[in-house]
Parts: sequence; structure tokens; C-alpha cells
Amino acid sequence: MGVFVLERTAYTDTESMRYAIRPMTPADLQQVTNIEQDAFPEIWPSTKFDKELRNHLSRYLVAVDTKTKVNNPNSVQEIIPNKPWTKKIPIIRHLVPDIAPVIQTTDSLVGYVGLWFMIDEAHITSIAVRSTHRGYGIGELLLIASLELGAIQDTKMLTLETRISNVTAQNLYKKYGLSIVGKRKNYYSDNNEDAFIMSTGDTKTKEYKDFFDNLRQEHSKRWGVSSRYITE
Ligand SMILES: CC(C)(COP(=O)(O)OP(=O)(O)OC[C@H]1O[C@@H](n2cnc3c(N)ncnc32)[C@H](O)[C@@H]1OP(=O)(O)O)[C@@H](O)C(=O)NCCC(=O)NCCS
Repeated sequence: MGVFVLERTAYTDTESMRYAIRPMTPADLQQVTNIEQDAFPEIWPSTKFDKELRNHLSRYLVAVDTKTKVNNPNSVQEIIPNKPWTKKIPIIRHLVPDIAPVIQTTDSLVGYVGLWFMIDEAHITSIAVRSTHRGYGIGELLLIASLELGAIQDTKMLTLETRISNVTAQNLYKKYGLSIVGKRKNYYSDNNEDAFIMSTGDTKTKEYKDFFDNLRQEHSKRWGVSSRYITE
């Protein structure tokens, strides 16, 4: 499994960014659900993020506020994928519970992004920042990390759908070279709003890589150098 940690030493004159990126874990489920409810109140019931964690096509990253911890003694349920240790003794398989308690993280999460990987395409299924933390470069950081994850997964484009009214999100995507390539009529069931389909061009070209590097550097200069821990 490849591990991608970058930029820590690239711009030594620049201060560290307060927010870091790492993969989502079962201990994050409650906070990620809260962020989703905050950002997308129309989504009901909430996305089953535990199921997403077990989907081999999907990857989730979270943005963590490195200067704050949350006091979180409550336990939540962790889904145990495939119960691997019972494989050799099938008879006990059904006796072992599918879930185990885990302690919720004390990391303070401020945003998340979910991606699906299909052949040479990375598709953002959801991206959100807590409403209290918007406008501080965190959404952009999540998008940078998504493109980096796409690169280590060897994809050549990043795509997504967005509400045609969501100009804020469209601005963010356009900044990173995504353009509108199509429209899905009545895509959102809560109000029948249409979706724009947005996509990068080929992210493997030198032209795009240079463009992206430049944006990453600008982000670091403006907001500080961020730690991003991204696994394949
Ligand atoms: C879209 C979202 C993730 C952006 O996150 P954010 O942390 O606030 O954004 P950032 O501070 O990183 O800003 C990055 C870019 O987004 C755009 N942007 C951010 N806030 C904006 C605003 N209020 N108006 C217009 N554009 C805006 C700009 O292009 C900005 O780049 P700039 O600072 O160079 O102008 C956030 O607004 C959010 O969670 N919204 C609710 C959920 C949502 O709509 N998700 C997208 C679904 S497709």
C-alpha cells in the first residue's frame, strides 16, 4: 500500500496550515455525519458512511483541525468487514457479531470528501466543510487532496455533479480546471434541480500538472503548508 505524504518541507518559509488531511476511519463516522447534515440538510436519511468505508471503490478523506481536540467518550459501532479471522472456521462465523464498539475520535473534523474510483476516473460523490469553517481554504485543501489521491490511483480525470445554483462550489471546481461538460435534468430529488456535470481534462498531461502545482503552491503561500496523509 502506497503512502503519500508531501509538502511538509517544500516551502520552509511558510507557516503550517492549521488543517490536515487524513483518511476517514470508523471513529470519524459521527462527526462526518454531522458535517453532512450541516451542509446537506436535504439528505435524509444520512449517507451510510460505514458502508462507504467498506466499499472497495470508494475512499473518504477528512480535514482535521490540528489545534483542537473534542471530548468524545461515547462509543459507536464499528462494522467488521468480512470477519476475516472466522474464515477458517465457518461454523463460528454467524456467532461472531458484525459490529464492535469503537471510541469516537478526539480529532476535531471540519470537512470531508468522498470519492469513487472507476477505471481511469475519480468521481467526487460529496464534499463539505462545516459552515463555521468555510472561507478558510479547507474546501480547496480537500479538492487538492482528491486530485492527489486521483494521481496515486493513476486516474486521468476528476468528475462530479453539482447543483446548477451552487455557484460557490462551481467557483472552487473551475479554479482547479473543472469545466461544465453536461447537465443532468432533475437530478436532485428534493427540488428537482438540474445538476451540472463537471470534469477536468486529462490530469496526466504536463500542462495540467504544472497548473495544479502552481495552485498548490499558491494555496500553501496563502493558508500555510498542510500535512496530507493520503493512502492508496
Ligand atoms: C463548497 C465548499 C466545500 C467550499 O469550501 P470552503 O472551505 O468554504 O472554500 P475555500 O475557502 O477553500 O475556497 C476555495 C474557492 O471556493 C470558491 N468560494 C469559496 N467561498 C466562496 C463564496 N462565498 N463565493 C464564491 N466563491 C467561493 C472560490 O473560488 C475560492 O477560491 P478563492 O478563495 O481563490 O476565491 C463549502 O462552501 C461547502 O461545504 N458548501 C456546502 C456543501 C456543498 O455545497 N458542497 C459542494 C457540493 S457539489
